[in-house]
Amino acid sequence: MSDDIYDPDFVAGVFDRCSGAYRNWSAVASFGIIRSWRRACINGLNLPAETTAIGVDLMAGTGEAWPHLFARFPLVQNITAIDISPGMHRQAIDRLHKDREDRITHLCSNMLETNLPSDSAEFAISTFGLKTFNAQQHAVFAAQLKRILKPGAPFSLIEATDPIGWSFRPLYRFYLDGVLPQVERFFLNGAQDFTMIGAYTRNFGTGRTVLLALRSVGLSVDVKYFVGGSAVRFSGFKPK
Ligand SMILES: C[S@@+](CC[C@H](N)C(=O)[O-])C[C@H]1O[C@@H](n2cnc3c(N)ncnc32)[C@H](O)[C@@H]1O
Repeated sequence: MSDDIYDPDFVAGVFDRCSGAYRNWSAVASFGIIRSWRRACINGLNLPAETTAIGVDLMAGTGEAWPHLFARFPLVQNITAIDISPGMHRQAIDRLHKDREDRITHLCSNMLETNLPSDSAEFAISTFGLKTFNAQQHAVFAAQLKRILKPGAPFSLIEATDPIGWSFRPLYRFYLDGVLPQVERFFLNGAQDFTMIGAYTRNFGTGRTVLLALRSVGLSVDVKYFVGGSAVRFSGFKPK
């Protein structure tokens, strides 16, 4: 196996191994804040409450964003959930979302290579799926996002960042780089997969390469930072 942490096979392996514990781990390790950030992602979608749109959830994982999406937009017809990890899809289907099965289309595929039809999605969301891409992959991601969206369709993406300049950053880094790896080793039989989040967020920085990539393909983008800059939301639309 590759030791390039941005190799899609490597990333799929990390999330396959995490998938069983992912939901609880992400809630507990973030002290629940991750839920409000997923909600903030949905709030960034500029759609009417009664929309019946058909959209995509990019790097959807176990579908943690869907309860927030359906709470705000109850009539959304269908979401295509793209994720590269079969384990994450299985968790979504088996444990969480049986009652909305008919409104989710699962696509186990690499987002950077997906051949979803052009101009087909009436919205796109992504929660915490950008940090496992490097700058070059952000450019491919942005081109794919633009290609898939219908002209005029909105998108909202949220990701955890490295809060450079925040006074609590040393504490935050100590937690990500020092505490979480020990907790994972202890509770998950020596596993070191969730620990990768430390390296991914450090390399992701403030998300500047995503912003540049989205703008350079011609998407209209607003940026909002949360909690001292420890998460960033990119929301906007594909111009008509
Ligand atoms: C941190 S999880 C986020 C999952 C979910 N969106 C959430 O809010 O919890 C990142 C997800 O991105 C997926 N992923 C990473 N690279 C991908 C790629 N190239 N194509 C599709 N999915 C990918 C992983 O398998 C993983 O499920």
